[in-house]
Amino acid sequence: MKRRTFLAGSVLAVGGALLLRPGSRAAPHDGYFLGLQSVLQKQGVGHPVMLIDQQRLKQNCDTLMAGLPAGRAYRIVAKSLPSVSLIGAVMAYTGTRRVMVFHQPFMNALATHIPDCDMLLGKPMPVAAARQFYAELGETAFHPETQLQWLVDTVARLQQYLSLARELGRPMRINLELDVGLHRGGLTELSQLDECLDLIESNPEHLSFAGFMGYDAHVGKLPPVVESTRTSLQKSNAVYQSFVDRLLQRYPDIDLPSLTLNGAGSPTVMLHGDDTPLNELAAGSCLVKGIDFDIAPLTDFQPAAFIATPVLKKLHGLNLPGPVPLGNLWSAWDPNRRMTWFIYGGYWKARPVSPAGLEENSVYGFSTNQMMYNSGAGTDLSVDDFIFLRPTQSEFVLLQFGDLAAVDSTGAMNWWPVLEQGHGR
Ligand SMILES: Cc1ncc(COP(=O)(O)O)c(C=O)c1O
Repeated sequence: MKRRTFLAGSVLAVGGALLLRPGSRAAPHDGYFLGLQSVLQKQGVGHPVMLIDQQRLKQNCDTLMAGLPAGRAYRIVAKSLPSVSLIGAVMAYTGTRRVMVFHQPFMNALATHIPDCDMLLGKPMPVAAARQFYAELGETAFHPETQLQWLVDTVARLQQYLSLARELGRPMRINLELDVGLHRGGLTELSQLDECLDLIESNPEHLSFAGFMGYDAHVGKLPPVVESTRTSLQKSNAVYQSFVDRLLQRYPDIDLPSLTLNGAGSPTVMLHGDDTPLNELAAGSCLVKGIDFDIAPLTDFQPAAFIATPVLKKLHGLNLPGPVPLGNLWSAWDPNRRMTWFIYGGYWKARPVSPAGLEENSVYGFSTNQMMYNSGAGTDLSVDDFIFLRPTQSEFVLLQFGDLAAVDSTGAMNWWPVLEQGHGR
């Protein structure tokens, strides 16, 4: 190869590489996160916490209530906001007493601590869980006969509940799960509705019909070329309406507004219009808005839950174990690998949001004890400062930190216990 060609090639390669070289994405906390950090430092917090921004939570509640179709009620999805205090705050902000519950120990906790709540099951419980609920109910002003609807998906399960109602001498209100297109179970045929209603009708002292629940989480999930969100919603509402129509055919004088016609969830709650067959809509996750809920219908909602965790170690450069200076080379090449941070805990279902430019290091690995992050030089972080991460979802991640750190608009912090998982039995 001629020397001139070689030189030209080398210049091009170096020039190209310089063009491809990333710029630093690091930036210090903005005023919002600096404010939260100073609250945590004033409180002497020295471990990872799940922080709830009460002001944003309230704004999200206002957005939700303003977006509901006219005259429809709101039901809180308890599993996505798993703390009696958090649910209590949402009740105060929205004015609802309705909760959707998914776990027997949560049911008993809510019956004890919020005895005037109205409960609807969000999934059909094994009859053993129903038995356990009554066994643990104890002294409370909560009356399952009027304040609780068990969710039932098949005639076989309805038979089980009938036996339990008979045995305990406790009448049960039954809400029937409809498959409106999600295909996660529930009634698919009008004939199944007839069978269930026949059984309820012939056992009026033990069972009563309380309404329907049809969850439409599939709406908006299909690629638009397969089916538009609008069409999916119309179809699922039409299925729902067909069950309501059958009910009306069978009982023309039935008082529909007294029934619970539940549906929707965070992904669809803002899509239902005044023509919806639902008379109440469920949602929970949108009020704290984990990353999975960064979707178009929820643009007006703000993230209101953050993991805050202390920085334990601040190291310059990137020093990877082993004889090869891979870390040094990597850090020399990529300005986003100039600093190394070890944090308290890690490896949660969450991604860092502040300071900007924190990156995990899959070559070094992941740790639930001391997770490594790298960044550029511009984060302005010190040891004992906090980094903030956004959970991808709330129902599991909110339960991983003990009491929630609820920060109000004045910067005061309250500890909100999370719902306990219960004991094995
Ligand atoms: C029956 C039912 N309704 C509603 C929801 C919506 O909950 P979220 O608003 O927290 O997404 C769910 C979530 O799984 C559900 O199972």
